[in-house]
Amino acid sequence: MSVVKKEYKRVTVKSLVEMKANKEKISMLTAYDYTMAKIVDGAGIDVLLVGDSASNVMAGHETTLPITLNEMIYHASSVVRAIERCLVVVDLPFGTYQGDSKNALKSAIRIMKESGGHAVKLEGGSEISESISRILTAGIPVMGHLGLTPQSIYKFGTYTVRAKEEEEAKKLMEDAILLEKLGCFALVLEKVPAKLAEKVAKSLTIPVIGIGAGGGVDGQVLVMHDMLGMSHEFNPRFLRRYLNLYTEMTGAFQQYITDVKSGDFPNKKEQY
Ligand code: KIV
Repeated sequence: MSVVKKEYKRVTVKSLVEMKANKEKISMLTAYDYTMAKIVDGAGIDVLLVGDSASNVMAGHETTLPITLNEMIYHASSVVRAIERCLVVVDLPFGTYQGDSKNALKSAIRIMKESGGHAVKLEGGSEISESISRILTAGIPVMGHLGLTPQSIYKFGTYTVRAKEEEEAKKLMEDAILLEKLGCFALVLEKVPAKLAEKVAKSLTIPVIGIGAGGGVDGQVLVMHDMLGMSHEFNPRFLRRYLNLYTEMTGAFQQYITDVKSGDFPNKKEQY
């Protein structure tokens, strides 16, 4: 299979659809702050997601539910200030778009105006179709999110694989087709069987970006802190750790403490 790799000076929602058409896989990671976003954008990532997983990894909440719109705007604006090339997608947090499409539009406009992000992501299918449609009328690009949708954790009860049963798989496929019809430019599929994810990706022209959804989709996303190995408590099967920063950082901190306590730091060259 020959893969066309086009150089993108700036990644847009159109570039992503083009990448799928050209069979170029899309790389996406989360980011929540200026420094990390600058590094990963410089490395050449296609999409940065200012995920509401900030609620977990940045603020230490057990779920994504507590994070507020103001907090998401703070994280997103820090990321936007750092980047030169990638597309920045921002999660609409829990409670800012469900059940009230006017409120959804207001929330999305605040994200776009106050953070400078390029698109928003919403969790859910047919039940939030009105919100998606209304946001799209304002010219705001929308990324969908199906499968495991952590904002509904209290409905699911667990973070296990979704859509293993036929009925749920059928609903997921219908929702995916609906999201494309409504005008979403891409879709995240989280923690679903690889076969189903591949079938969804093949049925859509918009890109499907997976997390725990196998290799048959159009791109992959991971939470940055997880792939850097900054925590050792979260061990899902889908996670590949590219560094073991938890151990590396602990070592560096311990060395610093030792150096300060022993008087080794600062030395003569490290003072004025
Ligand atoms: O908030 C997040 O980090 C996400 C990804 C897991 C896709 O939605």
